[in-house]
Amino acid sequence: MSTPTLLILPGDGIGPEVMDQVTRIIDWFGAKRDMPFDVTTDLVGGAAYDAHGVPLHDDTMARAQEVDAVLLGAVGGPAYDDLDFSVKPERGLLRLRKEMDLFSNLRPAQCFDALADFSSLKKDIVAGLDIMIVRELTSGVYFGEPRGIIEEGNERVGINTQRYTESEIERAARSAFELAMRRGKKVCSMEKANVMEAGILWREVVTRVGLDYPEVELSHMYADNGAMQLVRAPKQFDVIVTDNLFGDILSDCAAMLTGSLGMLPSASLGAPMANGRPKAMYEPVHGSAPDITGQGKANPIACILSFAMALRYSFDQGDEATRLENAIESVLASGARTADLMGPEGGTPLSTSQMGDAILAALDASL
Ligand code: IPM
Ligand code: MG
Repeated sequence: MSTPTLLILPGDGIGPEVMDQVTRIIDWFGAKRDMPFDVTTDLVGGAAYDAHGVPLHDDTMARAQEVDAVLLGAVGGPAYDDLDFSVKPERGLLRLRKEMDLFSNLRPAQCFDALADFSSLKKDIVAGLDIMIVRELTSGVYFGEPRGIIEEGNERVGINTQRYTESEIERAARSAFELAMRRGKKVCSMEKANVMEAGILWREVVTRVGLDYPEVELSHMYADNGAMQLVRAPKQFDVIVTDNLFGDILSDCAAMLTGSLGMLPSASLGAPMANGRPKAMYEPVHGSAPDITGQGKANPIACILSFAMALRYSFDQGDEATRLENAIESVLASGARTADLMGPEGGTPLSTSQMGDAILAALDASL
C-alpha cells in the first residue's frame, strides 16, 4: 500500500500548540515503527478566515476528501465572536463533518487510574470508567431545514428543525452496535421520545437495527434521565448512541467525569472510501481554550489520543494505538501532569512540549 496521507488542520487557540506535539508523535512512528505518513498542513476556522475570508477554503475541503484521515486541533476564539454566522470558525468544522458525511462520532470517556481523583465525582464512581458515546454528526437540529431568524408580526422568531431520516438513524445505530460487539455488548439509546416525533422514530429504528445484533443488550433512556444517570452511576453504560445535539451535551458531561476535558479524543467516521478505509476526521473534544492560548500550558493528551484513534480506526494499527495509549498511561502514572491536571497538593506542572517529551520517552521505553 502507498504511504497513508494525513491532512493536519491545527486551527485556532491552543490547536496549533497541541498539534505540534502530535506531529512529533507521528514522526516517531515514522522513524521507530517504520510507519511513515505523508502529512500536509492547512488552515481551518479563524485562521482560515484571517487568510481567506472563509473558515474553510474550497481547496482545503477538496484535500480533506482525498486524504486517508484529517487531524483537527480546535476552532474559534473571542476575536471571531462578532463575525457573521456564515463565516464563524465553527462553520468550517461543520462543513467538514457534513461534506465528508462523517455520520458516526465516537467519543470515548475513559478514566485513567492515575486521574480518578481529578473527577468532580467520587473516585469509586469513576475509577475504571470506560464508555463510548456514539453521536450522530451530520443531521438533526444542527443541519435541519427550515432554519433562520424570520420576522413574524412585530417580532422576530428563531427557527431550527430537528429532522432525522430512517437511514440516518440506521447508520448511526449500526455503528454503535458494531462497536458494542467489540466491547461490553451493551447499547443504550438516548432521545426524547416522550416529547419529540424524531425521538419516536429514533427509538423505533434503533430497536429494529438491534434485531440484527441479538447478543447486544439494548436499552432506551430519555436524554434528560441519561444526563442524570451519567453523573449518578456512569459505569452502568457501555455504548451510548444518541443524536447530534443530545450527543454534544452528553459527551461534555461524560468527558468531565474523567477529570479533564484535556484528556478526551474523538473520531468522526463516514462510509468506506475506495481503499476500504472510512472517511475520517480525528479531533480532541476540548475547544480552542483562548484563556490559556500561547502560554505553553495546554494539555496535548486529547489530541495525541485522537491520533491513537486514527491508528486504530483508519490504519488498522490497533497494537500501535495501544502502545501509544499505554505510553500516556505510564506517563500519568509516573505523576507527570499538565496544569489542568494539578491537584490541591500542587507541584510543578509540565508545559505542553514537556508532556510531549515525556510521552516520546515512554514510547522509546516501549520498544
Ligand atoms: C463539539 C463542539 C462543536 C459542536 C462546535 C464547536 C460547533 O461543541 O464538537 O462538541 O457543537 O458540535
Ligand atoms: Mg461540544
